[in-house]
Amino acid sequence: MYDYLIKPLLFSLQPETAHDFMRATCRVANVPMVSKALRPFFAVKDARLAVEVAGISFANPIGLAAGFDKNVELVGVWDALGFGHIELGTVTAKPQPGNPRPRIFRLVRDKALINRMGFPSLGADTVGERLQKLRGRLPVAARIGMNIGKSKVTEIDQAVEDYRYSFSKVHSYVDYVTVNVSSPNTPGLRQLQERSRLVELLRALQEINSEKKPIFVKVAPDLTFEAIEEVLGCCVETEMAGVIATNTTISREGIETRIDEAGGLSGKPLFLRSLDVVRFIGSRLQGKLALVGVGGIATSDDVLAMLAAGADMVQVYTGLVYGGPAFVKSLNLGLTAFMDLHGCATLKEAVEAWKTFHSEGLHPRAAV
Ligand code: FNR
Repeated sequence: MYDYLIKPLLFSLQPETAHDFMRATCRVANVPMVSKALRPFFAVKDARLAVEVAGISFANPIGLAAGFDKNVELVGVWDALGFGHIELGTVTAKPQPGNPRPRIFRLVRDKALINRMGFPSLGADTVGERLQKLRGRLPVAARIGMNIGKSKVTEIDQAVEDYRYSFSKVHSYVDYVTVNVSSPNTPGLRQLQERSRLVELLRALQEINSEKKPIFVKVAPDLTFEAIEEVLGCCVETEMAGVIATNTTISREGIETRIDEAGGLSGKPLFLRSLDVVRFIGSRLQGKLALVGVGGIATSDDVLAMLAAGADMVQVYTGLVYGGPAFVKSLNLGLTAFMDLHGCATLKEAVEAWKTFHSEGLHPRAAV
């Protein structure tokens, strides 16, 4: 129904209008009774899918990537769709409108998007209140993360206070917090990936992290491996829980669509770069910190490739736009079908089986 009816309708609208329309119509499914009733249709219940990452247990390895639900509006819906975790945000300390529209562009032939949203956000006060209410109200099965970013008006030298404010407002109500220093649409933001700035920022957050909430750092795919290594050093030094790789890319490599719009590219053309970054980080971390793979995941084979490259779990965004509401289910069912076929009792065994299966080099993404 999504492919033949809903998607053509949504894709006839401007991307953000479609997103707003979807948000409005999904509100009805966000009511606890409805989302609970819908969950059995989408959520795949299989103990083999469970993962433990950064001390948190997740029912399955598929999470919603940051950016889809910036202001904590549809948590019941995401939960009903069967996600193992939901990363909300990015939230900024101060409310801000983001960049002028249009700011999302579809590259249908490439199954990709370009966005320059620029963190539209209701601000940390409102989002914190919403999270607080949510905790008491919804029977949410998925784990919840909150992604925090810098307010546009805040100078880079004042960024630490800005992030600290957001962190203080949200961290008590979520399972983990992600520090976003990698979106390409806030001028100067990615400078925070530089060693001295990053260590200062992460230390300052740990100082007020009295509940010892796991903190993740989300990195850009455009960093050199050398720069990524520096970021990893900062994360280890400041006792981060893990790394999320990657955000959108400013590169336009591998796209067929002729388009000249500024912003971050996501979706299929990003997959191989994100996979490379995940593989590099995995090889450097050797399990010291948790690793979440994100970028261009469209099939369960992509999920297995990310896990084989060293990710502990994954997140999706653009795949959901192109795949529709049954996307998460299809990924999880793909994983269980693979496990059935290869007689695997755990996801770890499935990853080993996948590596063996692809070791003859028949698969373009097999170089693990
Ligand atoms: C994003 N992404 C993103 N990331 C983030 O940390 N904070 C954010 O606010 C947003 N906002 C956002 C908006 C839109 C329209 C898109 C397409 C993406 C990046 C996202 O979380 C993810 O890292 C990338 O999109 C790569 O994954 P996919 O989309 O290829 O699965």
